[in-house]
Amino acid sequence: MTGALADAVEQVKEVRPRRGSVVDLFCGAGGLSHGFFQEGYRVAAGIDVDEACRYPFEANNEAPFVRRCVEQLTAAEFEEEFTLGEPTILVGCAPCQPFSKYSQGREDSRWQLLKDFARLIRECRPDIVSMENVPRLPQFKAGTVFDEFVGSLRACGYSVAWSVAFCPDYGVPQSRSRLVLIASRHGQPTLPAKTHDKADYVTVRETIGELPPLGAGKSDAKDALHQCSQLSALNLKRIRASKPGGTWRDWPKELLTTCHKRETGQGYASVYGRMAWDEPAPTMTTQFFGFGNGRFGHPEQDRAISIREGAMLQTFPPEYKFLPPGAAAQMKSLGRMIGNAVPVTLGRAIARAIGNHIEAHDL
Ligand SMILES: C[S@@+](CC[C@H](N)C(=O)[O-])C[C@H]1O[C@@H](n2cnc3c(N)ncnc32)[C@H](O)[C@@H]1O
Repeated sequence: MTGALADAVEQVKEVRPRRGSVVDLFCGAGGLSHGFFQEGYRVAAGIDVDEACRYPFEANNEAPFVRRCVEQLTAAEFEEEFTLGEPTILVGCAPCQPFSKYSQGREDSRWQLLKDFARLIRECRPDIVSMENVPRLPQFKAGTVFDEFVGSLRACGYSVAWSVAFCPDYGVPQSRSRLVLIASRHGQPTLPAKTHDKADYVTVRETIGELPPLGAGKSDAKDALHQCSQLSALNLKRIRASKPGGTWRDWPKELLTTCHKRETGQGYASVYGRMAWDEPAPTMTTQFFGFGNGRFGHPEQDRAISIREGAMLQTFPPEYKFLPPGAAAQMKSLGRMIGNAVPVTLGRAIARAIGNHIEAHDL
């Protein structure tokens, strides 16, 4: 079958309900959950400490948000949210910052959160588990934190598969890499299948190229999320001197910052710059709305990308509701929720891989 008919069949397949109910630990605004939701699963609940996540999580995933610290959570508190008779799926992306390269391996109380994730798995024994985090987690502290997590799953009878997913390979217009782990009590799970290769990576242009132009510090009258940060006079000169895909090395000497002028500034090549239209964007961080925080300059307009553009590069659909009607958009809080998210499209690829496993094992 080819052409329009194949596309139509593919679309029907994509929206059919999936067997399985999902509880999302550290759910944030719901990037990962929404991938499961789009793939046709029932999202049963999301758990997070950040109250700001309640509205977007509930408004888009038809599921309750439970404000709770995972360290104090017991499985008994969420087990009843799972649908009786359906495969149970416990997913979670614990805070990544304690394992990032900037943490330099310093002891951090948030390591405990992965141990609590493992404890909750032991307590409730879901059919399937999915965990995401930064790619370096398996090497972090010579692997101790990650090995303990995997060891705890294996000791409970789970088969475990994991690898590092380069997001453009899954249709995400962003060169983010993430560790993806799937574990099952019903045989060896398969990791998400790649959907794209370099020749057809989704680009910045395809994702945000149609949005209305904005000036620095302005917002779109029709879309509260399409707003961007103000730029100082100096940063305005810097962005004007920036080339798409380039760095601060393109600037004349008088625009360099003190740290760029120092030798160690060589390590800061990615800070300050414009995105390139015809490539995936750099990794969206929680600070993506600031021109000085990464290569977050718009490819041709003299400004940092807007909150809406960051959300779209994280593959949140344009209709995803982040704010209650009439609420003012707080860039810091929105940037944190959006930058922290598992890209929806990666979540969807994980959900699809789990769906195939559920079908193959007739769960
Ligand atoms: C990487 S983000 C998760 C992103 C989310 N999975 C998504 O796709 O949108 C980590 C989340 O953990 C939450 N968090 C941090 N400490 C927590 C704790 N002790 N208990 C529950 N949630 C916590 C943060 O508020 C944040 O939303």
